[in-house]
Amino acid sequence: MPHQTERLSADTASLARAAEILRNGALVAFPTETVYGLGADARQGEAVAAIYAAKGRPSFNPLIVHVADTATAQSYVQWTPQADKLAQAFWPGPLTMVLPLQANHGLSPLVTAGLHTIGLRVPAHPAAQALLRQFNGPVAAPSANPSGRISPTTAQHVMAGLNGRIAAVLDDGPCAVGVESTIIGFDGPHAVLLRQGGVSLEDIEVTLGAALRSHTNSAITAPGQLSSHYAPRGTVRLNATTAEDSEHLLGFGAIDGILNLSPSGNLAEAAANLFGHLHLLDAMGGPIAVAPIPMHGLGRAINDRLNRAAAPRD
Ligand code: TXA
Ligand code: MG
Repeated sequence: MPHQTERLSADTASLARAAEILRNGALVAFPTETVYGLGADARQGEAVAAIYAAKGRPSFNPLIVHVADTATAQSYVQWTPQADKLAQAFWPGPLTMVLPLQANHGLSPLVTAGLHTIGLRVPAHPAAQALLRQFNGPVAAPSANPSGRISPTTAQHVMAGLNGRIAAVLDDGPCAVGVESTIIGFDGPHAVLLRQGGVSLEDIEVTLGAALRSHTNSAITAPGQLSSHYAPRGTVRLNATTAEDSEHLLGFGAIDGILNLSPSGNLAEAAANLFGHLHLLDAMGGPIAVAPIPMHGLGRAINDRLNRAAAPRD
């Protein structure tokens, strides 16, 4: 279904146009503070199905549903005291919570991929907030990239991957956080880490006053956590201190390369630069080597994405 992808800005008229496109059941890519999302009305099955088609996603993984505020989120799920603590601390922001759905939620079953839970997020980005308020409904949105490829942190990244496959992209500049949201589920009273992301595990544990469980020893399922993902075309070698042969080295801190995620060794800056630098190295072609990234704070989410970029593909 080739068509022209409309390029919209974040002014009032463009936001109204983007909301209209969503109401018509078509796809709009929009910025969040983590990455650009590929949005569809979460109540319209055909619109949600079009997300999978545009991304070339092989299977129906559950999608995150974006809403404007905590009150709207509460109207879809069975809310809990732990969810409330996390919402108060981190919403709006780069956190997704997976909670049991209420009856009569009105969302397309394709959004949940048949599960009885749903991932909800209240994004902080002003353009995302404005779009959600204009649209006045739930927006299902995975990252706006072809399945398995590097996530988009600019509208240019979105166009490079999906031009002609989606109705519109709302351009409001680069994403400040740069890695996807942290996903937390619940196993009874225990909070479970389903995906590392823009809120650090340390900050969540401080807020909850308890350690997070890993999903590998919990009863809940974490679909869609494929090992090969975020992949550039070239191979990726991790924990490199120098480039070998034709490799391009992606540096961090004092280990410098053709690009550096953060010359000062700042993990927030490195997260914000991660996908943009990988897109640039992808465009240069050839194998990629990456300097070691410390395993704390946002470094955990960065290492998670790098491990999957380096994972064997088939
Ligand atoms: O930052 C982000 O989270 C971005 C922006 C656009 O908001 N979105 C994003 O969506 O990364 P996506 O589709 O790539 O992440 C969906 C993942 C699924 O693959 C799954 O791991 C988890 O969220 N998920 C969603 N609903 C779930 C559920 N009911 N149970 C378990 N995991 C779920
Ligand atoms: Mg993604």
